Order: sequence, then C-alpha cells, then structure tokens
Amino acid sequence: MLKLNDISLTFNEGTPDEKQAIQRINLELKPGEFVTVIGSNGAGKSTLMNVISGSLMPDVGEVLIAEKDVTTLPEFRRSAYIGRVFQDPMAGTAPTMTIEENLAMAYSRTKKRSLRLGVTKQRRSSFKEDLATLNLGLEDRLNAKVGLLSGGERQALSLLMATFTNPNILLLDEHTAALDPSRAALITELTQKVVADHGLTTLMVTHNMQQALDLGTRLIMMDKGQIILDIEGDKKQNLTIEDLLKEFQRIRGEQFENDRAVLG
Ligand SMILES: Nc1ncnc2c1ncn2[C@@H]1O[C@H](COP(=O)(O)OP(=O)(O)OP(=O)(O)O)[C@@H](O)[C@H]1O
Ligand SMILES: [Mg+2]
Repeated sequence: MLKLNDISLTFNEGTPDEKQAIQRINLELKPGEFVTVIGSNGAGKSTLMNVISGSLMPDVGEVLIAEKDVTTLPEFRRSAYIGRVFQDPMAGTAPTMTIEENLAMAYSRTKKRSLRLGVTKQRRSSFKEDLATLNLGLEDRLNAKVGLLSGGERQALSLLMATFTNPNILLLDEHTAALDPSRAALITELTQKVVADHGLTTLMVTHNMQQALDLGTRLIMMDKGQIILDIEGDKKQNLTIEDLLKEFQRIRGEQFENDRAVLG
C-alpha cells in the first residue's frame, strides 16, 4: 500500500544549519497494516510523515502509494490517498466554519475541485450518522462553529474527516499528545475503531510507549533519520516497555561510546 524506496532528506544543505533529517529510509506497508512509530525528539518522524503526505519532497528516493509513484505529486494532489491528523487540535479543521461545513469540505475534497459547501438533506443525514459513531453528541451540533469545540472533540472530528474519503493511508502525528489523559484515551479508542472499521493502512507517531505497544500490528523506532527497529506480529505482542528502553539505551550508549572515541 505504501512503499518508500531509499528516501533521504536534508534541510539547509550546504549551510551551517544542515540537518540530515531522513537518511536512506526503506519501508513497505502492506494493506491494513497499523504501524506505531516511536523515537526521540528530532528523530525524523514528522519529516517522514511530511514526505509521505507530499508537504515535503525528498532529495532522493521514491514514494509509492497503492503502487502509484507519487514522488513528484504535490500535497493537494495526494489528498485523495491520504488522511491526516496532527498533534495540534487547531490544525486540520477550519475554526470559523461549522461542523457541517468542515465535513462538507472534507467530503468535497476528493470529489470535484470545488469548495461548494452546499449540503443536501441526504448528505446531512449521513454526516449525522458518521458523527454519532464518535459518541460525543456532535451529531446534534452540526451548526456549531468548530472553534468552540474542545481539543478532544476537534481531534475526533479531524479523525472522522481524515477517514471520510477512505484514504489509502492514514497518518497520525502525535494526535493525542495535546489532550488530557481521559480525552487522549477516548481518541485512542476511536482511532482503533476507525482504523478497524475501514481497514486503514496507518502510521501513528507517538511518544507514549505503552500506546505504541498496545496499538497496531507493527512498531518501528526511528533515530537520527533512520529506522533502527522494526517489529511485528508475535514479537510485537510480546514486546515490553523495558525492551524499548533497553533499545533506546543501546543506541544512546553506542552514541556515547562514539562521542568518547571522537573526543579521544
Ligand atoms: N523545516 C525545517 N527546516 C529545518 N530543519 C528542520 C525542519 N523540519 C525539521 N527539521 C529538523 O529535522 C530534524 C527532524 O525533525 P522532525 O520534526 O522530523 O523530528 P520528530 O522526530 O518529529 O521530533 P518530535 O518528536 O520532536 O516531533 C530535527 O533536527 C529538526 O530540527
Ligand atoms: Mg514530530
């Protein structure tokens, strides 16, 4: 469903601020795979999401979605293939527009290239049905401005909008990080439901190791722009936080030794 062939991306190449954010990443996701992505700050997780969505172009390498080479397709032309929810509840929805208008916009995104916000009776009732699945009572607030919703309600709406058009890939970048624990748990639960209901191929970045272990069918760990751990199936089932911490320590330890060697 998703194939990344030897992707590299360097920011500010040739300047003192040069940063190799992605280094020769190869990754293949089968349809329906749900991958959790962990790694320390600056590991390149968000950059990788941006390369997949097309908001960043890799310096080298190819991005294939459903066997189509989309490497040079700009973001708006990939939007039919990709659903995305960000960390910031303010991103992804239009705060001055109503719930219904936001849904209509998400719906029309992959239909015609028009921003017509007209909503038919039939469409409205299908929106209500979709909203009811969130169990937040939003189906009774179609005309509420999205800016008035709580962070959790907005993330739930973003999640719904992201899956509306049955995307090939769902990208979640720390989408529960800005929420309080109970809202985060609710959105986590919704995520599982939505992914299972639609059988979505999903990449979910999280700093919550327990969440990374509990969710999904596969786990990858990134460090310095590379995938340094890739575990699936029974192995993932048996993985513990301790194992992950050991892995972190192992790479950090080596780093420490390298630094020492360089310092002599
Ligand atoms: N637009 C940019 N311009 C320059 N450098 C950038 C840009 N975006 C990211 N970087 C750098 O690239 C590296 C990878 O950043 P990225 O945001 O992908 O990390 P991350 O794994 O998502 O981290 P976090 O867990 O903090 O969100 C970092 O060192 C970051 O400073
Ligand atoms: Mg990030």
